[in-house]
Amino acid sequence: MLVLGIESSCDETGIAIYDSKKGLLGHTLHSQIELHSFYGGVVPELAARDHIKYIIPLIDKLLEKNAISIDSIDSIAYTAGPGLSGALLVGSSLAEALAYSLNIPSIPVHHLEGHLLAPMLEDDKPSFPFLALLVSGGHTQLIDVKEIGKYEILGDTLDDAAGEAFDKTAKLLGLGYPGGAVLSKLADKGKPEFELPRPLLNTHGLNFSFSGLKTAVLTLVKKQIELTDSIKANIAFAFQESITDVLVKKSIKALKQTGYKNIVVSGGVGANKQLREKLKLQSKNENFKAFFPKLEFCTDNGAMIALAGALRAHLSSKNNYKFSVKPRWKLSEIESTF
Ligand code: KG4
Ligand code: ZN
Repeated sequence: MLVLGIESSCDETGIAIYDSKKGLLGHTLHSQIELHSFYGGVVPELAARDHIKYIIPLIDKLLEKNAISIDSIDSIAYTAGPGLSGALLVGSSLAEALAYSLNIPSIPVHHLEGHLLAPMLEDDKPSFPFLALLVSGGHTQLIDVKEIGKYEILGDTLDDAAGEAFDKTAKLLGLGYPGGAVLSKLADKGKPEFELPRPLLNTHGLNFSFSGLKTAVLTLVKKQIELTDSIKANIAFAFQESITDVLVKKSIKALKQTGYKNIVVSGGVGANKQLREKLKLQSKNENFKAFFPKLEFCTDNGAMIALAGALRAHLSSKNNYKFSVKPRWKLSEIESTF
């Protein structure tokens, strides 16, 4: 079965073709980072317009590159939420109209389900059940993944998401937007000169809080007489140490609580080298296995949506082709009818 996957929930137009027998056949992505960086954040209206501009040419190009005719596609999966409503509507209206015209099923996919299943795009994949650490620009969650569609949120952020904390700290250091990856590169050059708090490390169960960390960085920045490049690198180093320590420690706590031996890490912050290395190191000491998607599948992409669509295809039928999206769709509400 061939599934065309479409991701347009935020600032990336991602398209992919997934074969339920052979795996991922191809994927392509257009990033809007340059378009939004001038404004220091995503401008929803510009995002929607840019998706309109790129979505059809990207699909055409991907089909052509893989010598696949649109008529051989069996179903179309698309991100139906959560995300920016205008951006989501571009993907959903195209997917639903295309599915209707081809007389094939359309599969609305939850963006976070895409992220947490992304490690299954790799050859070495975990089997259900497993623990997921979902760390993106908008979410920081520890999830008990029992099976497809059965997710229990074990821990969540009480305020800022991990990616948001990376981005806000990067902004304070004048590194531009989105700054997670840039901050991480700068931290590589830093030394352990500053100590920052590790919020909720031993309290509040599996929940997180990162807004205080951002304030601690602000206080530290203000204390500096001159914010030199080496001081910036040392602050980035301290910030990354602190946030990854909290993420790793809470993940291990959740593994012990569930008794699971497998954890998957996904979402944009899952691309963070330090987080990956710390988890790999701890996996030896604590006897668990950590699964990561390839870096390109950590951040938003069409492949994870096509994969999630293929895995839930049995739940879909030819529907009534609704043009609706769920900008605030909760992962715990995923089984509700769309
Ligand atoms: O999953 P994603 O692409 O989009 C959302 O659904 O939010 O995640 C984007 C987030 C941004 O906050 C970005 O700064 C962060 O992931 N990010 C990173 C790295 N690469 C991307 N944060 C830390 N280290 C990285 N290497
Ligand atoms: Zn995402």
